[in-house]
Amino acid sequence: MAASGCCFWINVMVFGLVGFLFGIILNHFLPLFLKHGLVPKGSFGWPLLGETLSFLNPHPSNSIGSYLQQHCSRYGKVFTSHLFFSPTVVSCDQELNYFILQNEDKLFQCSYPKPIHGILGKVSMLVAVSETHKKLRNVALSLVNTTKSKPEFLNDVEGIAVQMLSSWKDKEQVIFCDEARKFAFNVIVKQVLGLKADEPRTAEILQDFLLFMKGLISLPLYIPGTAYAKAVQARSRISSTVRAIIEERRRASAAAAKYVDDDIPKNSSSISSKQRSDFLEILLCVDTLSEDEKVSFVLDSLLGGYETTFLLMAMVVYFLGLGDSNPILEQLKIEHEGIRKMKEKDENLNWEDYKKMSFTQLVINEALRSGNIVKFVHRKALKDVKFKELP
Ligand code: HEM
Repeated sequence: MAASGCCFWINVMVFGLVGFLFGIILNHFLPLFLKHGLVPKGSFGWPLLGETLSFLNPHPSNSIGSYLQQHCSRYGKVFTSHLFFSPTVVSCDQELNYFILQNEDKLFQCSYPKPIHGILGKVSMLVAVSETHKKLRNVALSLVNTTKSKPEFLNDVEGIAVQMLSSWKDKEQVIFCDEARKFAFNVIVKQVLGLKADEPRTAEILQDFLLFMKGLISLPLYIPGTAYAKAVQARSRISSTVRAIIEERRRASAAAAKYVDDDIPKNSSSISSKQRSDFLEILLCVDTLSEDEKVSFVLDSLLGGYETTFLLMAMVVYFLGLGDSNPILEQLKIEHEGIRKMKEKDENLNWEDYKKMSFTQLVINEALRSGNIVKFVHRKALKDVKFKELP
């Protein structure tokens, strides 16, 4: 009697398990069959995981990687896949991509994978949609437009570059990728938070920032010790540091205002020397953003400005080092030396000088085009969309 009861439960468990697995498989592949003929051709890979692992498989930055190569040659430039736990249409078609980005919030909406939401938070620019996104983007655009040509910013960039170059003098070998990382981080931390490279807080933020980056594309399970959990904790530490810096700035401004009220001349050097022109200072005066949005904005700027810039610099140097690039390197040198000759010794470059670097701009654009700096952006279709001959 006991043995048959046990048998019964084993059968229930086996059937339950088989049913569960069958359900997962059916749920995974069903959209491919139901939408057959309505979406571009493609494949869904493994149940649950889909083709995410092959999509994320590392590959040289100057190539599109075997996943895109194989899928494009098998199905064409637009195909269906299963990525980050969702049925996905992948487009490598320039026209379709342009159409998608032109129809933001009308036909398509920004939609990044789950771990990015958990780590960046609800008000990050990569996660926010509609009005909140527009509001944040407007602040970002006006901040970049007002600071990009300011002498303080240009002098900082030049100073950090000169410092980096002089640190190479006694070295037999430099790993450019590492140097570019340091350079990009030092520039962005100075520009956003006003912190110098040698301040202890800069090192702390960098350490947390690297953990934060590692977790961005990971399994979104908050289990202590995993890349995801470490990234969430790192984000919260960076947020606390940013909040502390905001508080210090507010106290400093209040003290400066009191100092002025107490009849000490407004142009006193002790006040003007403390005046800053970084993002944070300007951000503190923006009253359309909440405190959380300001903190998140700082994190977005660090994230946006660090990884992309260092990778682009590394790609430019990589391409210039290739055998057939010597004439390009020569042309760059001629352009830069020509501008330098017009300046006094030790005179800093200004915005007009940068605008004269037209050949340099072409080299940068070409590295952007060939270097896959940002390999993909994610969008969700808000309704069924028909584009040209595509199903
Ligand atoms: C080589 C340099 C760069 C490249 C290739 C690059 C690429 C991109 C791309 C492709 C997006 C679109 C993401 C999307 O819409 O889903 C984006 C957005 C963004 N980038 Fe950059 N970026 C670069 C430099 C920077 C810098 C220097 C900053 C900050 C100072 C920055 C801040 C941002 C921000 C805040 C967003 C979100 C904008 C929005 O959602 O409206 N980026 N970037």
